[in-house]
Amino acid sequence: MTARLNTAGLPPSNGQPTTPAIMTLDRDGKLIKEVGFDRFGFDSRVELSLLRSLYLRPHYVKRDGDGSGSDNDETEHHAKFVQGFAAYQSKSIYHPATHSISYTTLSRFPPVKLLPPSARKRILVTGGGGFVGSHLVDRLMLLGHEVTVLDNFFTGSKTNVAHWVGHPNFELCRHDVVEPFMIECDQIYHLACPASPPHYQFNAVKTIKTSFMGTLNMLGLAKRTKARFLITSTSEVYGDPEVHPQNEEYWGNVNPIGPRACYDEGKRVAETLTYGFHRQDGVDVRVARIFNTFGPRMNPYDGRVVSNFIIQALKGEDMTVYGDGAQTRSFQYIHDLVDGLIALMNADETRPVNIGSPDEFTILDFARAVRDIVERVKREDGVEVGRKCEIIHGPMPTDDPQKRRPDTTRAREKLGWEPRWTVAMGVEEMVRYYMAKMAEGSL
Ligand SMILES: NC(=O)c1ccc[n+]([C@@H]2O[C@H](COP(=O)([O-])OP(=O)(O)OC[C@H]3O[C@@H](n4cnc5c(N)ncnc54)[C@H](O)[C@@H]3O)[C@@H](O)[C@H]2O)c1
Repeated sequence: MTARLNTAGLPPSNGQPTTPAIMTLDRDGKLIKEVGFDRFGFDSRVELSLLRSLYLRPHYVKRDGDGSGSDNDETEHHAKFVQGFAAYQSKSIYHPATHSISYTTLSRFPPVKLLPPSARKRILVTGGGGFVGSHLVDRLMLLGHEVTVLDNFFTGSKTNVAHWVGHPNFELCRHDVVEPFMIECDQIYHLACPASPPHYQFNAVKTIKTSFMGTLNMLGLAKRTKARFLITSTSEVYGDPEVHPQNEEYWGNVNPIGPRACYDEGKRVAETLTYGFHRQDGVDVRVARIFNTFGPRMNPYDGRVVSNFIIQALKGEDMTVYGDGAQTRSFQYIHDLVDGLIALMNADETRPVNIGSPDEFTILDFARAVRDIVERVKREDGVEVGRKCEIIHGPMPTDDPQKRRPDTTRAREKLGWEPRWTVAMGVEEMVRYYMAKMAEGSL
């Protein structure tokens, strides 16, 4: 679905690594130049190439040699590096000989929109150092809002938002949401919660505490400040569903005592709490039920299927499918999710809204598709393809749902939202992202 371009409106790279020039087509075959839309009084449009410049290139500039270069070399290196969009990136240099990194303070940031005070919102993003949170933060920052990130960095990382640290519109607080937090704000996106099974099962009691007490604290804050509150719930509230596809009226089929219950029941009780504050205290709430999402900055080793497959295929390892691979999933790309979250936050819909892709694949078909895309991208980029990965089968995890696909009628009708990215386009971008990480030596 995508092809390489010689030019994509990107500035010259001056020989330094820069954002790959790739052309991405939407489901209707139209070129995607920007994401977001101007709806419900909130303009969320941002140029895709600008967003890409924040994630689709190496963090560190690898310098060949023995690491004993003079300061002058380093300054020259920086001078070259700060051209074009690369100027908006961390200017850290990796010294392979000593396996060390020289950090310099960022003095330039990506251009953010200049908004009048009446349009500029003070936005709190809990879990903003995580995969979804950091993409949401990028978007909100580029749009010109004041963003505060609250994160305990359990699964997230400061690196994910490092390109904003020091910006006058940005604040980063290391804080655990199970403790109260006070701040003045207009909107709260409450994402803080580990999302991958190994992470949320690592400390099940902490996960349910985060879901319950964290949400209680953030709803209390929303009540005090009269901020609008959006929680990122999950398709896991439907458990192993008996209806297909799942719409928001379905109550779910969750095992309350299984290994996944800390997350599934945690999110269910978080929703209950959210509607408690809404009914009792008039808190203005939004509930997004997110289905499987993937994209750059996903932890490649946290056991989620998309990153698992891509990394295995990139490294030429066998690809592990759990069970016979007949179970189905639908995967949405991160930019579609961010579009959906922003649309929901700014729309009038207080009922839960599914946000996910309706394209359903068996896991086995998906593994094959990922393998093909990885091979194609490697060939296009002149990287040796290596051996063809075999697909092998592993034991099915406990309570793994057999079928998953959202009914997104409500999102379409109430938010005017529909996914634009195909899975193939998203996977291709992910492949390029992980290849860039491998090139810089951090993967
Ligand atoms: N990615 C998906 O496919 C998906 C699907 C459904 C729902 N969600 C929801 O979206 C949100 C973000 O998920 P993600 O994929 O970005 O996961 P992630 O693990 O990358 O991000 C979660 C963030 O929350 C932080 N965090 C965890 N516990 C915290 C605590 N007690 N206090 C403060 N910060 C804490 C983590 O450090 C991390 O930065 C979660 O609420 C998740 O349940 C994600």
